[in-house]
Amino acid sequence: MSSSGFTIAIDGPAAAGKGTLSRLVAGAYGFHHLDTGLTYRATAKALLDAGQPLDDEAIAEKMAREVELGGLDRDILSKHEIGEAASKIAVMPAVRRALVEAQRRFSEKQPGTVLDGRDIGTVVCPDAPVKLYVTASPQVRAKRRYDEIVARGVDADFDAIFDDVRRRDERDMGRADSPLKPAEDAHLLDTSEMSIEAAFQAAKSIIDVALSRYA
Ligand code: C5P
Repeated sequence: MSSSGFTIAIDGPAAAGKGTLSRLVAGAYGFHHLDTGLTYRATAKALLDAGQPLDDEAIAEKMAREVELGGLDRDILSKHEIGEAASKIAVMPAVRRALVEAQRRFSEKQPGTVLDGRDIGTVVCPDAPVKLYVTASPQVRAKRRYDEIVARGVDADFDAIFDDVRRRDERDMGRADSPLKPAEDAHLLDTSEMSIEAAFQAAKSIIDVALSRYA
């Protein structure tokens, strides 16, 4: 094994199933997992809590540099408003630079890491030996999000969720710095008609081949 661990880069749009897949993969291989979306969310939450604007790049960068990767709590950060704010500050190059530095340091952990996000295979870890791009149609992603909300006993409006998924895609794919797109050497996994178990098995086959070649 080389001095930095084996990195699995998992990218894709919101609600494509990459979070669940990443947790399963990290558990199966005993690797450290970082959901990089939480680093953008934690920065956004710090700004909102401090009553700071979301369009001041210098203040946002300062908050990004203070984010502790060990203290990221998905339950607290999963709120819709925080996700929206996160995708707004994620267009700022200084914020991205600060968070990417921390994400790269994380990716060196032994024996290996799984990082999921939007730009892992393209920008954060371009040399990762495994890159997966997990996607699904906007309808399927909106339906999954709708079902999750309804399962928590909360009312949900499918059309509003669908619009939201589309808006988030546009912002993530359309930004100038590190837009969401598959790396040229990424394996595409379209989960529109796949169970999470099937997606996991597909990912595992790809990872096992790469691990057997890794020296
Ligand atoms: O994945 P999640 O919904 O938690 O991400 C929140 C937002 O953070 C995304 O909409 C995206 O704008 C941003 N993000 C990013 N790059 C990453 C991870 C997330 O720009 N690697």
